[in-house]
Amino acid sequence: MGRITVKDILSKKSKAKITMLTCYDYSFAKALDEAGLDMILVGDSLANVVLGMQETRRVSLREMINHTKAVSLAVEKSLVVADMPYVSYQKNPKKCVENAKKFVSAGAGAVKIEWFKDCVSVVKKLIKAKIPVMGHIGLTPQTAHLLGGYKVQGKTKESAYKLVKQAKVLQDLGVFSIVLECIPAQLAGLITEHLKVPTIGIGAGRHCDGQVLVLYDLLGLYKKVTPKFVRVYRDLFSEIKDTTAKFIAETRHGRFPAKEESFFMKEEEWEIFKKIV
Ligand code: KIV
Repeated sequence: MGRITVKDILSKKSKAKITMLTCYDYSFAKALDEAGLDMILVGDSLANVVLGMQETRRVSLREMINHTKAVSLAVEKSLVVADMPYVSYQKNPKKCVENAKKFVSAGAGAVKIEWFKDCVSVVKKLIKAKIPVMGHIGLTPQTAHLLGGYKVQGKTKESAYKLVKQAKVLQDLGVFSIVLECIPAQLAGLITEHLKVPTIGIGAGRHCDGQVLVLYDLLGLYKKVTPKFVRVYRDLFSEIKDTTAKFIAETRHGRFPAKEESFFMKEEEWEIFKKIV
């Protein structure tokens, strides 16, 4: 079986749940791909969980491209989706196609765009340039400051209606899927039911066509905040701490490295060498 395509993702609508996780590097990507994940999102959450920044808006185009390259080198099957960083299309809409093409050259099969005031013209240009686009509505972290912070969106009938309209606009523009972030489960269900393209939920309940989580949340690696919608499958942070403590103790007590972990010269060679020195 070859790579998962945008067409495959579209054809899963109402047939099979779609799975996506974020990923930022070669080794994790290899594991996610081999596990059989449908899509790997090189998310701009890179800014927070890997680069330690406060806001996703701060991550640069070069940083996102480098990590997209690393992920793409590992992936054989999953569809790699690159999150376009704020600077690459919201701050600089005129350069959106040129920048999106850099992600495609880095190995991405599609790009993701968050809803913002000039979203329609940007998505139009990308689709015209034949670049597959995933939309993102609801809580859009790049413009969270305009939404009253990191809050659930669409809780009132007026704001819910706005989201239904945004989803429909994106579908009509030709996106192949839409991320619904932090919106009420009933609303996500209604949007999912009314769209032909799949919805991928994060904090949007179980009725979406698929689910996405930030890998470092699911693995318990990022301890700064754990949103309510995250299921922490492992506590890798503690496992890494314990493992590091073990390494420190074994090294300090001379138990690492052992014979099996060392290289040796042949005895005769060693004896001659000792005489020379
Ligand atoms: O960057 C990211 O991690 C995302 C997901 C939250 C969908 O955009």
